[in-house]
Amino acid sequence: MGSELTFRGHESQPVSDTYTPKQPKPWFSVTQPIRYMLREQRLVFVLVGIAIATIVFTLVPSSSTSRVEYGHFTIPETTTRLSQYDQKPMYEHRSAFHMYSSGKVPLGLKRKGLRIVVTGGAGFVGSHLVDRLMERGDSVIVVDNFFTGRKENVMHHFGNPRFELIRHDVVEPLLLEVDQIYHLACPASPVHYKFNPVKTIISFFYKYYKYKTNVVGTLNMLGLAKRVGARFLLTSTSEVYGDPLQHPQVETYWGNVNPIGVRSCYDEGKRTAETLTMDYHRGAGVEVRIARIFNTYGPRMCIDDGRVVSNFVAQALRKEPMTVYGDGKQTRSFQYVSDLVEGLMRLMEGEHVGPFNLGNPGEFTMLELAGVVRETIDPDAKIEYKPNTEDDPHKRKPDITKAKELLGWQPKVELRKGLPLMVSDFRKRIFGDHKEGGATTA
Ligand SMILES: NC(=O)c1ccc[n+]([C@@H]2O[C@H](COP(=O)([O-])OP(=O)(O)OC[C@H]3O[C@@H](n4cnc5c(N)ncnc54)[C@H](O)[C@@H]3O)[C@@H](O)[C@H]2O)c1
Repeated sequence: MGSELTFRGHESQPVSDTYTPKQPKPWFSVTQPIRYMLREQRLVFVLVGIAIATIVFTLVPSSSTSRVEYGHFTIPETTTRLSQYDQKPMYEHRSAFHMYSSGKVPLGLKRKGLRIVVTGGAGFVGSHLVDRLMERGDSVIVVDNFFTGRKENVMHHFGNPRFELIRHDVVEPLLLEVDQIYHLACPASPVHYKFNPVKTIISFFYKYYKYKTNVVGTLNMLGLAKRVGARFLLTSTSEVYGDPLQHPQVETYWGNVNPIGVRSCYDEGKRTAETLTMDYHRGAGVEVRIARIFNTYGPRMCIDDGRVVSNFVAQALRKEPMTVYGDGKQTRSFQYVSDLVEGLMRLMEGEHVGPFNLGNPGEFTMLELAGVVRETIDPDAKIEYKPNTEDDPHKRKPDITKAKELLGWQPKVELRKGLPLMVSDFRKRIFGDHKEGGATTA
């Protein structure tokens, strides 16, 4: 049956075994496609199609649009321009971010989440940064040794497959496949960084601890960035300006730091970390970003860590006198944590190496700050004066012109708006009626 079907007709078409050259096609066969199009108004359909395509491509903005959309925010064109402020990145960016940085993600294509390491991600700033990255759809690995950080700061992400937490000290090397590294691991408060200054300078602790974390920790993370081709962001500090002789502080100011004082494990540790970062950039082609962070406050700060805002708030809540060191006329600027996180993300996604000052230029004396804490918590709160600590800077105020111009960033939350959010988090943690994870947004 099958053979009949395949062979039917072979008798009626005898096969000739003499070769006959193929006849050339008649000239009119060339015109066949044209005649086909003219038949049954097919030409009209072709013309209508061309017209629709022209309209669509004219109305939809091209990828050379003057704004770059990324995550929640839009970075103005200024971020892709180099100006007199900027350290031009020396090497082409090699991470997955590049796919999204030059224009809109094409219609129908979903933005691919990045793999991001946040060292110190269980700490105050780090945990808020992790919240934003998770919200954006990225996969986040937190690396923390819990020296000052707490699991409670990130435990609301446990169970999310995009989140991982690794207990690890950055003083030891680590290998992870990632696109970006936010390097925050370092005790940031004097109480903690003076606790083990050698470890600070090597990794990020105040006296010992802070230098070790700063230098060896940063070295390890830069090594990781180099090996896997990740972009690296260093959270440096306004402490690199020391007790500044220039006010407000601009990024081009080299600072006035005591290299042998009790704070130098932190100050010099961060300065060395900046040097290492730039050397890896220049020498090894690592994509780097440097943020110089000014005093930041908000929910999840360590209680009793010796930083002035957390000190005043905890003391006023406990009905203890607020400790003012010296005459209280030294000034600081206070930035709410959500503003800082926004600045860090813009810096990481932008095209500029920095360093960038990230801080709120609103300047307060310690006594003025104590006044705002009184207004917010207890009008009867008392002040207790104590001798000033060694090498305490007299003035601190960021000049943020560069961040405004190149990152399109400036802080939005005033002290009187941000402080109540921190106070309610501290109240819950101090008096025990606490639900973990303070609010970030003001
Ligand atoms: N908060 C501020 O006002 C401020 C100001 C300037 C700079 N900074 C910088 O921002 C970063 C974060 O500061 P923060 O206020 O969130 O401090 P934080 O102390 O709350 O957080 C630091 C985190 O790093 C972790 N850590 C410390 N040493 C580590 C190590 N060797 N290995 C692994 N993890 C380690 C801690 O456990 C903690 O979770 C720090 O690098 C700090 O120097 C902060």
